[in-house]
Amino acid sequence: MAEVEPKAAIIGWPVDHSRSPLIHRHWLRELGLKGDYERLPVAPDQINRLKALLVEGNYVGANVTIPHKEAAFRLADRADSVARELGAANTLWFEDGQLLATNTDGFGFLANLDERLPGWDRNGGKAVVLGAGGAARAIVWALLQRGFAPVLVLNRTLEKAENLARHFGAGVLAAPLSQAGTVLKDAGLVVNTTSVGMHDEGTFDFTLEQVRPDAVITDIVYTPLRTRLLREAAERNLRVADGLGMLLHQAAPGFEKWFGRKPLVSAALRQIILDDLGSSA
Ligand code: ATR
Repeated sequence: MAEVEPKAAIIGWPVDHSRSPLIHRHWLRELGLKGDYERLPVAPDQINRLKALLVEGNYVGANVTIPHKEAAFRLADRADSVARELGAANTLWFEDGQLLATNTDGFGFLANLDERLPGWDRNGGKAVVLGAGGAARAIVWALLQRGFAPVLVLNRTLEKAENLARHFGAGVLAAPLSQAGTVLKDAGLVVNTTSVGMHDEGTFDFTLEQVRPDAVITDIVYTPLRTRLLREAAERNLRVADGLGMLLHQAAPGFEKWFGRKPLVSAALRQIILDDLGSSA
């Protein structure tokens, strides 16, 4: 009997622009493994069939992106502690017929900084998170793991920042984005999780003048790679890390579960994604 090659997918709506197939196919090629990774668009009115869709399509697992991360968490048979903490899943795999779920966004955020700026979390202290959506939630979780305190969540819509702060408890505080100028004083880390700066559109109305001289500034936007926020940080001689590595690193745990080998986030992979971003800009 012919052996069935393992196949995974990215589930979202839409998924046409997802770079995940490029990442996983590169790793399959590089490691000489049989298998594939496809785009699987699933409309919101079909997501309740998530497990059936994966079984029918013979998938060994999947990544999940907007707008289905919360549904994936809810629909999995079992979720690990990170997915439970975040109430959202981005990585699914089967074990003994059960659909298991985790969330690797926070892991990807940390792994990117560990790789780009070794020792970045050594001085800890105050961290400021701009935005209060799903990505912000994963990043707040990650920063708490590494001992940052307090973590301040600043958002245009204060209520969403307050909800997020309440979810995590005492170490996380909320403030309106308009107060960034004062809140940033003595911050040791600033991360943008909003779409401000994407395609160089939109600006923040604060400067990084007051942050600690050893502060790390990072952005989850990676188009352009050097956002306006990161350019300002570099001009002030602050440490900066772009957001592309988070995308690459969050993909690695799923690959290992589905295909059985630990993949490498290399300069070659980074270049493949950069070339693709360039050609689609
Ligand atoms: P994600 O899952 O990527 O975090 P999201 O849940 O849609 O995406 O969250 C987007 C975040 O970007 C929100 O914090 C949003 O602020 P609001 O809650 O006020 O909508 C923020 N955001 C988007 N556009 C923004 C803008 N022009 N200025 C400031 N914040 C913005």
